[in-house]
Amino acid sequence: METSFWLERWQNSNIGFHREAYHPALQAQWSNLGAEPPACVFVPLCGKSLDMEWLAKRGHKVIGVELSEVAVDAFMDSQNLTPAEEAHGEFIIKSAGPYEIWCGDLFALPEERLASVSAIYDRASLVALPPPMQTQYAKWLKQKLPDVPAVIVSLGYDQTEMKGPPFSLPEARVRELLGDHYALQILSSNEVIEENTALKKRGLTKLRETVYLARRAS
Ligand SMILES: C[S@@+](CC[C@H](N)C(=O)[O-])C[C@H]1O[C@@H](n2cnc3c(N)ncnc32)[C@H](O)[C@@H]1O
Repeated sequence: METSFWLERWQNSNIGFHREAYHPALQAQWSNLGAEPPACVFVPLCGKSLDMEWLAKRGHKVIGVELSEVAVDAFMDSQNLTPAEEAHGEFIIKSAGPYEIWCGDLFALPEERLASVSAIYDRASLVALPPPMQTQYAKWLKQKLPDVPAVIVSLGYDQTEMKGPPFSLPEARVRELLGDHYALQILSSNEVIEENTALKKRGLTKLRETVYLARRAS
């Protein structure tokens, strides 16, 4: 997607993907990861996700990256925090409490900043990107991140019923993108169309949300 697509969605509050509750997979599965607080968790394409709050409440330091400053400011507001701001190349880094959010393009994030990351929490990054960018994102993840466990939340549906985003990533596609580097374990897989009324209105009849635990394959 063009950068402008996401910036406009945030400007227009067209953010149906945002959840007003913690993702159930965190509560159910995070402890299986072996990343004990205060280990630093990387949250790519973080939006204003409250899952960052869940991680911070558990005692983690959180590094996020997000294109839209509107999203980052809204997240900091939701936490009643006034972040310090620092310019870094094409990024603005907004930091407060346990959060350090890099405002800018994930693909430009300096590799060295990610060296201290001990786990990754990724909800809806792959589904946000069209297929060629999914490949670029998977390559980036495999090359730039240290070998740490990742929880990846993805969606699969019949792509003929609706155009993305969100794009459909059936299990085979997730394995094609990541399976050469990560051993992928399915932690949960649920039918979630009833909770996604906006996507139902767009014509979807079924929507499967799958949560993967990805660990570096030995
Ligand atoms: C589907 S939303 C998911 C947001 C969040 N993970 C959540 O669970 O609510 C995708 C987010 O990625 C951001 N985004 C898209 N492309 C990006 C890029 N290249 N770098 C950083 N953020 C990006 C968008 O602005 C949007 O907030």
